[in-house]
Amino acid sequence: MSIKNISPITRVKGELTFGGDKSVSHRAVIFASMAEGGSVIKNISTSEDVKSTIKCLKSIGAKIDQKDGVIVIKGVGFKGFTKSEEVLDAGNSGTTARLLAGLLAAQDFETVITGDESLQKRPMDRVTAPLKKIGAKATLDKKHLPMTIKKSKLKAGEITLEVASAQVKSALILAGLHIEDGELTIIDPFETRNHTEEMLGIERVDHPSGKSITLSSKFYPQAGEYLIPGDISSAMFFIVLTLIAGDSLRIKNLLLSPERIKALEILQRMGATIIFDREETGKCGKSGDIFVKRSDLINVEIFPEEIPLIIDEIPALTIAGLFAEGGFMIRNAAELRVKETDRITAIVKNLGFCGAEVVEYEDGFLLYGKDVDDFALFESFGDHRIAMAFSILATLLNKGGKVNQAECVNISNPNFYEQLEQISKKD
Ligand code: S3P
Repeated sequence: MSIKNISPITRVKGELTFGGDKSVSHRAVIFASMAEGGSVIKNISTSEDVKSTIKCLKSIGAKIDQKDGVIVIKGVGFKGFTKSEEVLDAGNSGTTARLLAGLLAAQDFETVITGDESLQKRPMDRVTAPLKKIGAKATLDKKHLPMTIKKSKLKAGEITLEVASAQVKSALILAGLHIEDGELTIIDPFETRNHTEEMLGIERVDHPSGKSITLSSKFYPQAGEYLIPGDISSAMFFIVLTLIAGDSLRIKNLLLSPERIKALEILQRMGATIIFDREETGKCGKSGDIFVKRSDLINVEIFPEEIPLIIDEIPALTIAGLFAEGGFMIRNAAELRVKETDRITAIVKNLGFCGAEVVEYEDGFLLYGKDVDDFALFESFGDHRIAMAFSILATLLNKGGKVNQAECVNISNPNFYEQLEQISKKD
């Protein structure tokens, strides 16, 4: 377990590119494995989470190879996966476990999925309950992994999401793609992130309770080529650092889909200079370059409906909030408690470790006293986004800081510390 020593910096300057967006990479590799025949994926995420998805898909028969930095997949075709001799291990990845639960519910064999210690504590009944409503046979060990999924007959019909989770919606979509004798309509009152439907070409329409999508086997993925734009959630830490420390940073080829740039829009409301450039739209969503400059920030209200769209960005936004004028408040975000760690407790404790004053609520926190110490020892709780957020904060303290279990950054961005070194100036 490594403790990372982080020195203070004076400013950042330079240009960064990021490995493919993690959410989009999971989906690309799943769709390509489902499709009949050969697909190619360029700029896939090098995260441990996406490696977990690849390993699981290989265990059920997909042929996945890496050639010259490109992933080449020979997919199995409709219901073509085969029974795994071993238990599938989703590692630390909630997206792997939940999305594959939907895919496996539609196969004609039994599978068991498990995960690491952290994933085994995260709620999985949120995915088995709706899958059961459409006919799946998925059982858990007291709401948690391991999950056993048996052969079943999935039913057409209508279902409303009860949890604001794109992962749960995606599990239902992956199951619904196997329904041949009717359609499945999914109503999403929370308007969660929509990569799955966007990449499959399923239209999202307005519904009196939010948005709805209707699908069937006619949307089953075809083989093709995926060029994955850079991971916006990984970029957020560097965007926040630039806004606070200056000077400026250019980030090229970043995923900029409307449902993923909400945190950037909030930063702009706070007064951030973030300039969008060279935008284009491809199979994986909208992408482009951004240019970020040091800015004076003022905290603003964050609305309840924005929370599902910024849930992964809250640790980074908190650091922006700490250096912005006025109190920084997050509410309606109880989902943070069931991420890789309880992120509300993790954020509140770490802010306390550097002398900031913060009040914890069941569904968020209020950061009001912002005099920070010269040096702090931060606790990552083994959570990649907590490690990255407080590493950024450590660079901003007069004498730097330390972050424990820092290797957990590999879960989403194995290049994090090299990128930080690359753009940091200490003059
Ligand atoms: C993800 C959805 C979100 C997000 C996670 C990735 C996805 O989780 O926090 O990092 O790829 O669908 P929830 O669906 O649980 O909110």
